[in-house]
Amino acid sequence: MTFEVESFEPYFSDENSILFLADTFELLDKMPGESVDMIFADPPYFLSNDGISCSGGKAVSVNKGDWDKINSTEAKHNFNRQWIRLAKKVLKPNGTIWISGTLHNIYSVGMALEQEGFKILNNITWQKTNPPPNLSCRYFTHSTETILWARKNLKSAKHYFNYELMKELNDGKQMKDVWTGSLTSANEKTFGKHPTQKPLYLLKRIILASTREGDIVLDPFCGSATTGAACKLLNRKFIGVDNNLEFINLSKRRLENVKMNRKKIVAIDGPAGAGKSTTAKIAAEKLGYTYIDTGAMYRAAAWKVLQKNKPINENLIIETAKDIDVDLQYVDGVTKVFVDGQEITSEIRTPEVSHIVPEVAKIGFVREKLTELQRKMAARGGVLMDGRDIATHVLPNADVKIFLTASIDERAKRRFDELKSKGYTTLNFDEIKNEIALRDKQDMEREIAPLIQAEDATLLDTTGKSIDEVVNEILNLCK
Ligand code: DC
Repeated sequence: MTFEVESFEPYFSDENSILFLADTFELLDKMPGESVDMIFADPPYFLSNDGISCSGGKAVSVNKGDWDKINSTEAKHNFNRQWIRLAKKVLKPNGTIWISGTLHNIYSVGMALEQEGFKILNNITWQKTNPPPNLSCRYFTHSTETILWARKNLKSAKHYFNYELMKELNDGKQMKDVWTGSLTSANEKTFGKHPTQKPLYLLKRIILASTREGDIVLDPFCGSATTGAACKLLNRKFIGVDNNLEFINLSKRRLENVKMNRKKIVAIDGPAGAGKSTTAKIAAEKLGYTYIDTGAMYRAAAWKVLQKNKPINENLIIETAKDIDVDLQYVDGVTKVFVDGQEITSEIRTPEVSHIVPEVAKIGFVREKLTELQRKMAARGGVLMDGRDIATHVLPNADVKIFLTASIDERAKRRFDELKSKGYTTLNFDEIKNEIALRDKQDMEREIAPLIQAEDATLLDTTGKSIDEVVNEILNLCK
C-alpha cells in the first residue's frame, strides 16, 4: 500500500498496511486532508500517576511508560483537543471516528469531540467478563471501558452504518450499545503485548459496523496494531502511527504474521458450452464470492433488440443500448436478469437470442457500456466473473485468470442436453454443433475484445471431466 505523507517515510508497509514511527501530531499535520474513511484511536489514558493496579493476580505499578504521563487536567484536555482537531482534518466528510477510554480520559475526550465539531453517535460500553479485581477494596470493580463513536457535525455528513450486518451478528435483533466479552486473550499477544491492548473481536466489530471493504482506517496511537490486524483480516487498508519504537516493531511483527483474507477477483473466459457458468456458479458459492455472468448481460441487450421487431442493424442496436439498464441479482443460487426493471431470466436463453447475441456483442458501444458496468460490479473484490473478454479486457488485473474450454463435440452435446431438459423437442445435434462453431468464430474473429486466452491465464480443458472435478480445479487455482 502506498500513502504519501510529506517528509515522512513509512517504517513498514505491505499490501494493505503502512506503519509510521512518528509523533502523531506532526504526522497528522502533514497528512493530506479528508483522506481516511475511519479513525480508531485508543489515546493515552494518562493513568501513570504512580498508583497500584492488579495484573495476573499481582499488585503492579499503574505506570505504563513516559508516554502515559501528563501533569494537569488542562494539559490532558488540551492534548485531546489538539489530536482530535488534526483527526478531523484528515477524516473524509462522511467518515467516522471511534475513541476508546476509561473514566480517566473519556469525559475529556467526549467534550473535546464536541468542542472540535463532532457529533457523538453512540456511547458504547465494553463490558469485560473477566476484569481484574479491585485491590484497594474501596471501589466497585472497574469492569467497563467506553468507546465513543462520532461523525463530523455537519448537516451534509452521511455516516456509514452496516445496520443489517450488526443485526445479523446479534441473532436478528438490533445490536445494543453494550458489548460484552473477555479481556484480550494470550494468543493475541504472541508477538509481544501492549499495556492497553484491545481484543481483536472489538476492533473487528467496529470496522465491520462503520467501513466498507477497501476503506482506509487510521489508528493514530497504534500500540500493538490490533486495528491493523483486524483491517487485514477484513480487507480494509490501514495506516498506523506510533512514536514508540518498541510498539511499532511489535505492530510490524504482528502485521507480518496476520494472513490477509483478501477476496480475490477471478476471471473465467472461454467459448460457449465450455461449462463456465455451471462450474463458476458453484465455485463462487463455495468461495463466498459473487458470481457475475457477463454473457447474460449481452443476452439481455440482444433480447431488448429483438423486442423492437425491426430489421437488426448497428443503428438499431446502438439506439436500443443507449438507455439500457441491465441488472443481475443472485437469489437462491440463480442469477436473475433484469432489463429496465423487467425480469427476463428465462427469456434470454432462447435459440433466437443465442442466434443474434454475437451481432449485438460485436458493437463497440454495447461493449463499452457493459464493460463499465462489469468493472463497477467487480470493484470490491470477491467476484468470479465469466465471459469472453474478462481476463484480456474487462479485468486485466484479475488475481486469477482461467481459460475454460472443451472439444466442440462435447460442448454441442452439453447444449443439446440442456435444451432438451428445457422441453425443446425438435433438436438436431449437427445444427447445434454448427451454431456453436459459428458463435466461436464470431466471438474469436470480432474486432473489439475478441475471445482469446490471456497470456497469463491457466488453460482448463473440461472435456470428459465431471462438474465436481472442474469446480475443484477452479478452487485450487483460487487458493
Ligand atoms: O456465455 P453466453 O453464451 O451466455 O454468452 C452469450 C454471448 O455473449 C456470446 O455469444 C458472446 C457474448 N459475450 C461477449 O461477447 N463477451 C462476454 N464477456 C460475454 C459474452
